[in-house]
Amino acid sequence: MAKKLHIRTYGCQMNVYDSARMAEVLAPLGYVPADTAEDADMVILNTCHIREKAAEKVYSELGRLRRVKERRAQSGDGPMILAVAGCVAQAEGAEMLRRAPFLDMVFGPQTYHRLPEMVARASRGAGAVLDTDFPAEDKFDHLPATGAAATAEAGGRSAFLTVQEGCDKFCTFCVVPYTRGAEFSRPAAAVLAEARRLAAAGVREVTLLGQNVNCYHGAADGARGGGAEWRLGRLIAAVAEIDGIRRLRYTTSYPADMDDDLIAAHRDVPELMPFLHLPVQSGSDRVLAAMNRRHGADDYRRLVDRLRAARPDLALSSDFIVGFPGETDADFRATLDLARQVGYAQAYSFKYSPRPGTPAAALEDQVPEAVKAERLAELQDLLNAQQVAFNDACVGSVLPVLLDRHGRHGGQLVGRSPFMQAVHVDAPEGLMGEIVDLRIDGAHANSLSGTLSGVLAAGADLPVSFPADPARLRA
Ligand code: SAH
Ligand code: F3S
Repeated sequence: MAKKLHIRTYGCQMNVYDSARMAEVLAPLGYVPADTAEDADMVILNTCHIREKAAEKVYSELGRLRRVKERRAQSGDGPMILAVAGCVAQAEGAEMLRRAPFLDMVFGPQTYHRLPEMVARASRGAGAVLDTDFPAEDKFDHLPATGAAATAEAGGRSAFLTVQEGCDKFCTFCVVPYTRGAEFSRPAAAVLAEARRLAAAGVREVTLLGQNVNCYHGAADGARGGGAEWRLGRLIAAVAEIDGIRRLRYTTSYPADMDDDLIAAHRDVPELMPFLHLPVQSGSDRVLAAMNRRHGADDYRRLVDRLRAARPDLALSSDFIVGFPGETDADFRATLDLARQVGYAQAYSFKYSPRPGTPAAALEDQVPEAVKAERLAELQDLLNAQQVAFNDACVGSVLPVLLDRHGRHGGQLVGRSPFMQAVHVDAPEGLMGEIVDLRIDGAHANSLSGTLSGVLAAGADLPVSFPADPARLRA
């Protein structure tokens, strides 16, 4: 009989990808997806450790799940396996089993290819399983070839593909180098094979993922060490050539790693969407240096200019941290200036959160909480206004939208514009999964609304999907 698996995913897109791969590893053991923990035989929390209280939130959720597990045992429905995966598991390790002894498995982001063994051990009742190694073997060599169905999110048309993991940059505020480990690129041949499988399964949009995706330097062939290496620009060009792949994106990029080929790809590869998430963190050189970022504010401005020269309609997104230790009012003003000068289509901003074990957490001049809150509100006002202005500016244009979800109302479909905006439209079900030109007639804070543009609405016997033509957007 099929067993049921419930995975709850927190944090970044890479965790979304990892959760999908965990489901694939467990499928041969008979596990099928369950919507809630209440009717699952196995529950996995795939956790995030990037900011505050992450661990505390996991422990409080575990308190609730413990009762679900106990109820299940009492009702005779059979045991429930309860697991914590991801970066909190990696960071807490054995401490997690001490604080939550009712857990069956605790494993990090680099070991989930061993899930079948872990499940076997946990099911034997031989005690809890802890696996937070950074194993010498590469999990990607041991995972099944992805079946796309699980990996593809959103109607199976848009999928994440991890090409790079880990980080050696050691920004002084960040836990990623500790929880995800050393920087590692998958061989280009393996990435291309996975992209081909995705395309064959109907995926039309691929987002190449990495903690530091643009430092990608994968071996050209399957072999490790020796042989030519590909950088991300070349990988993007090759993935774009795969039949069926119509849209490409990549995230997250480190400004100092944007090389000429990657910038040129924004000019030369029409499948590469005109949207880039390019975290800057701060507009103050002093703070950037204290963060151990290997770029200054002007380097970032120049980089944006070069990207926009390559792709004039490029929309930008970013991450900002306010209240890094020692940040003065003048430093913060420099951040506001930079945001104003660049102009973002959307952005994420956070209060600095001291992470145990990172260098910045040990700095003396921590910024008071109230000051952080004030600065965050001021920055968010600016970024929100920029987002609204960007959305407003889209009204009246025709955008190719990949329709991949149902809307709240009957007859409504939702998709993504080239610039990552959600777009709602009343459209026939037959257009689900297609890239359709929509006339944008409404803008909201977080989405757009559109109508099927002339030709389609008239029901002319034209194909219902058009190649996305970025040239038209620039006009
Ligand atoms: N390159 C990474 C970025 C890691 S974290 C990636 O895979 O996306 C995402 C963002 O969280 C960072 O860009 C940073 O703005 C924010 N962040 C990371 N550590 C933080 C901390 N200690 N406090 C506040 N924000 C933080
Ligand atoms: Fe973190 Fe900086 Fe790497 S933000 S993921 S240490 S580039």
